[in-house]
Amino acid sequence: MDRPPRPSPLAPSPAPAPQAREFEFTARDFEEVRRLIHQHAGISLSDAKTDMVYSRLARRLRAVGARSFQDYLGRLKAGDDAEWEAFVNALTTNLTAFFREAHHFTILKDFLKTRRERPITIWSSASSTGEEPYSIAMAAVEAFGDFGNTPVKVLASDLDTNVLRRAQEGVYPVDRLGKLAEAQQRRFFLKGTGNREGQVRVRPELGAMVSYFRLNLLDAVWSIKGPVDAIFCRNVMIYFDKPTQYKILQKMKPLLKPDGLLFLGHSEALYHASDLFRLRGQTVYVHAESQGARGDGREARGRG
Ligand SMILES: C[S@@+](CC[C@H](N)C(=O)[O-])C[C@H]1O[C@@H](n2cnc3c(N)ncnc32)[C@H](O)[C@@H]1O
Repeated sequence: MDRPPRPSPLAPSPAPAPQAREFEFTARDFEEVRRLIHQHAGISLSDAKTDMVYSRLARRLRAVGARSFQDYLGRLKAGDDAEWEAFVNALTTNLTAFFREAHHFTILKDFLKTRRERPITIWSSASSTGEEPYSIAMAAVEAFGDFGNTPVKVLASDLDTNVLRRAQEGVYPVDRLGKLAEAQQRRFFLKGTGNREGQVRVRPELGAMVSYFRLNLLDAVWSIKGPVDAIFCRNVMIYFDKPTQYKILQKMKPLLKPDGLLFLGHSEALYHASDLFRLRGQTVYVHAESQGARGDGREARGRG
């Protein structure tokens, strides 16, 4: 691709492209969006996200027929529930993959084999489009041998109602299964034909292991009954500031059995919450009081 000519260091730097934008988007508008999404979803947006915020919300302005960001934000604050949902959905980042951070699923399988109580419950607390909860369910079936013998229920929640709908549908482009062996693909997915060519759908037995529901990790009350055996809270903490992370971890703690495991994303260390959880290794945490945990909150081995 051709690069645009570099501006001379002496020339004034070109103004950002607001005049090319369909709607005016001032620094004040951005600040207001930033305040509202932080208040409602805990998400902290950096300045680098200005263009992303503009393009995602411009679609909402068009959809509701707003004349400007001010008009749109005014309507939003006037209290339209459906638009609040669309606003939050527009600003979440849902990147995910099957068997993302694959070492977690090896650890999970070993852990599942040691559990004695039935059923075993695992909560995927930022499940996005379903790849994570279905990977948990697949790992569980592999740990116990077959569907009939797998005493595992997966609870899967997210704040974003669009991704929850897609997760429930369980339909993916076939190339999303890149990390799965052929045998896994056949065991857990049905191949689409006709106008579903190029797509796969999770098999009903796998789908039946997972229950989806909306849960905002920022809400004061969570619609989940614990304690569960393991919690996956991966690649969502990075969007929250440290005090918000701490509050969420405080609420998660009683929901996790005393000998349960907490899985975090590879860039989400809990140094600031080492009174709550301690590192067991490879971004897997246990209750701070539990035996055998490392006390310094640091990685025992390389990151996954
Ligand atoms: C980058 S995805 C991570 C998906 C999956 N856990 C993984 O690691 O692949 C982050 C997810 O967190 C969700 N999320 C963001 N803020 C949230 C909140 N306050 N409560 C619950 N989920 C939230 C987003 O909707 C998004 O689906």
